[in-house]
Amino acid sequence: MGKDIYTLAIETSCDETSCAIMKNGREIITNQIYSQIDIHKKFGGVVPEVASRNHVRKISLIVQDALDESNMKFKDIDNIAVTYGPGLVGALLVGMSYAKSLAFALDKPLIPVNHIEGHIFANFIEFKELEPPFLCLVVSGGHTHLIHMEDYGKYEILGKTRDDAAGEAFDKVARTMGLGYPGGPLIDKLAKKGDKNSIDFPRAFLEKDSLDFSFSGLKSAVLNYINNNKQKKVEINVENVSASFQEAVVDVLVTKTIQAAKLKKCDKIIIAGGVAANSGLRAKFEENLKATDIKVMYPSLRLCTDNAAMIGCAGYYQSLRGHYGDEYLNAVPNLKLGEYYEGRSS
Ligand code: KG4
Ligand code: ZN
Repeated sequence: MGKDIYTLAIETSCDETSCAIMKNGREIITNQIYSQIDIHKKFGGVVPEVASRNHVRKISLIVQDALDESNMKFKDIDNIAVTYGPGLVGALLVGMSYAKSLAFALDKPLIPVNHIEGHIFANFIEFKELEPPFLCLVVSGGHTHLIHMEDYGKYEILGKTRDDAAGEAFDKVARTMGLGYPGGPLIDKLAKKGDKNSIDFPRAFLEKDSLDFSFSGLKSAVLNYINNNKQKKVEINVENVSASFQEAVVDVLVTKTIQAAKLKKCDKIIIAGGVAANSGLRAKFEENLKATDIKVMYPSLRLCTDNAAMIGCAGYYQSLRGHYGDEYLNAVPNLKLGEYYEGRSS
């Protein structure tokens, strides 16, 4: 057995400042998360400039917390992983500049990690025996992707959203109902008390065989429903609207994911990203897979939303394949899954 590898990971791509220390990729030593949700709530969504400033305020403190919590010192760390995209450019730059400086000062390898890949790897932390190939649905505030993960670092994107991400649709519908931000957990909670069959909202299955998604039509239908009732001075039942909207989203997500798993002959479906926390989505997968040999897996709630542990895990496996960063690394706000940093381009 070789020496244990400790990865210090940093995540600042949106509104969570997080630092984790991982042992040999899958074991969490610590996963410190500072969420800015309370700061952005009053604006109804994430304000990029405010997010960057708060990352600057918190980053050194949270790294120190991670070391203190683990009884470790910088000299005990073997490499440094950091999210370099996709995400908000100003927010990404804070974590990346910090990680680059740290790697340079400590003379340790720097590992630039793709945030979407990080979400997938949250499942590797949760399920110690999990190995590719499998089918993966990544559903977050910014992304809705159906992916066939063939091997480490090998992804085939089978479908993605053509407009809004699933989490974005939850957030926008919640804002229209005046529920607050982020909308997903609030709608999830209200939906439990509502009737999911009370309102027949549209499902966009798109062309036959297409594995892409579209949520803008559903979002408009819900907004029209709310506004029409407002005009007629009829009070809406937020629990029923939440339950019916959520059902329309999860119906499409689950149907297409199972279709993709069958197409690729996968017996494992993993779900990842903030919307993977949704109880309706989890329940529908379990229900629709009952009569099949396909198994569904999802990470615990804390690992679904943004955190640095998932970045450390993805970074560890990436380092095994030799993909490192250098002092020329820059943030890539629209980074695609499967693209790796190739070093200085000019
Ligand atoms: O993965 P994440 O933390 O950030 C991004 O990378 O985007 O996901 C945040 C998104 C938000 O849109 C939030 O409303 C949604 O995940 N979310 C949920 C739930 N918890 C978080 N959506 C539906 N149901 C939930 N329980
Ligand atoms: Zn995320």
